[in-house]
Amino acid sequence: MTAASSSAAGSHLKHAVLIGAGRMGSAMARGWISDLGSAGLAKLSVVEPSPGDDVRAAAATKLIDLNPAPVVADIVVLAVKPQGFGAAVETLKAWVGPDTLVVSIMAGVTIARIVGALGSAKVARAMPNTPGAIGMGATGFALSDACGEDEAAVTAMLLEPLGLVAGPLKETQMDAVTAVSGSGPAYVFLLVEALAAAGVSAGLDEATANALARETIVGAGALLGEFAEAPGELRKQVTSPGGTTAAALGVLMAEGGMPELIKRAVEAAVKRGAELAKEAEGA
Ligand SMILES: NC(=O)c1ccc[n+]([C@@H]2O[C@H](COP(=O)([O-])OP(=O)(O)OC[C@H]3O[C@@H](n4cnc5c(N)ncnc54)[C@H](OP(=O)(O)O)[C@@H]3O)[C@@H](O)[C@H]2O)c1
Repeated sequence: MTAASSSAAGSHLKHAVLIGAGRMGSAMARGWISDLGSAGLAKLSVVEPSPGDDVRAAAATKLIDLNPAPVVADIVVLAVKPQGFGAAVETLKAWVGPDTLVVSIMAGVTIARIVGALGSAKVARAMPNTPGAIGMGATGFALSDACGEDEAAVTAMLLEPLGLVAGPLKETQMDAVTAVSGSGPAYVFLLVEALAAAGVSAGLDEATANALARETIVGAGALLGEFAEAPGELRKQVTSPGGTTAAALGVLMAEGGMPELIKRAVEAAVKRGAELAKEAEGA
């Protein structure tokens, strides 16, 4: 699935600049800094008004250049908030030349908007999710037409510190990526809340119900990560015929149950993503 390939990441090590080292940006930077060469980088510059400890420490040991004067870079990684993009464009242009690969993780900002604003035709648009901040995320990405295999490999490699990377995908699929993995952690957190509340209804005290529900999701997630079996297979392994889990799944999987609800939720998120993109174009 991932397009990452250390050998395919370009024939020479590159100069990358990270614009915005907040939660997501600093998670990527930590991964790159641990081995710049493996990330395909000769040099890393970071532009960030309020850098965290990791970035400050890397700057103190000269591993990175922090807030240097802009020069045209091989790669510009945009990790500022989408609403900050417009204000940053004039400053960003100084880092971007006609051959610069611009990798954006800004939610909902289209490739066309970035090409139009910054003038490079080579743009990668990625959508990470919050677990990316601890390297356990899932990120999908799409590329502009001017990008080829080299840009796909470089982009995948740069995103790898966030966790799993899927792509290149079509840009038309990015609303689906947002709805599945971008918003997905919220669905899982809601499941923990609902399970805990149901536990209280079933007679547990709140603290016990919260602890059991939370750790059940953490443990189930760890099992999924550990074993190659399909989730349906893992589900069957905890479902004895005629048992308690089967009784619960009979409710969850009935018509209008969880699969249908999740489908409707994802459809609503896809629709909202398309609306937000239209609103941003008009802004
Ligand atoms: N968090 C997620 O789960 C998630 C998921 C998908 C996509 N994303 C995308 O990832 C991007 C970053 O999100 P985040 O959660 O990491 O946000 P964040 O923690 O707010 O990080 C953004 C950083 O950029 C800095 N900044 C603002 N303007 C700047 C400029 N002109 N030049 C350089 N740095 C600037 C901010 O500094 P100040 O705070 O001092 O302004 C902040 O440290 C967003 O575009 C978001 O849409 C995030």
